[in-house]
Amino acid sequence: MRLALFVSGTGSNARTIIDRFQAHPEDGVEVVLLVSNKATAGALAMATERDVPTLVLARKDFYETEELLQDLASFRVDFIALAGFLWLVPAYLVQAFPQRILNIHPALLPAYGGRGMYGANVHRAVKEHGETESGITIHYVNEKYDEGNTVFQAAVRLDPEDTPEQIAERVLRLEHANYWRVLRRLAD
Ligand code: GRF
Repeated sequence: MRLALFVSGTGSNARTIIDRFQAHPEDGVEVVLLVSNKATAGALAMATERDVPTLVLARKDFYETEELLQDLASFRVDFIALAGFLWLVPAYLVQAFPQRILNIHPALLPAYGGRGMYGANVHRAVKEHGETESGITIHYVNEKYDEGNTVFQAAVRLDPEDTPEQIAERVLRLEHANYWRVLRRLAD
């Protein structure tokens, strides 16, 4: 599997995935490109340090042209994993990679998903509703936010005293432990 990671921020999931597959070539997954929609994303330096080529997307190019498909083809990308990527994936990209784009969402979808439900917003909402558990959902990407078929879910119990930040930490730990495993399974 020749994987491209799409990010918007810190890229701790991307880092975990790159480190895993660089250390374990026998897994059969190579991260060949990291794509960011933000020129300031910390993930760019992280990828460069690991010799993973990077690409910064401009909104206009992403939504009004299909140039990205040529870039992905030039790196022979055959699978995409969104890891904290906040832009909606346009139809041309979904159609070019049918059942070949995954996303990770920091909650148990269909709860706490959809437009505006990302990052701290998710964990605040989970807290406000007094949930006793949260978790992660890894799903295929279609043209709507958080609606493609689920591939994997894992839950974590919450303490009533947990702050949204603590919920975020627990959930992120689950993300790091599982995203690469799911990718390895799909590569098989
Ligand atoms: C993760 O919680 C991911 O599920 C969400 O955004 C966060 C990204 O974290 N979509 P990082 O950039 O991988 O550190």
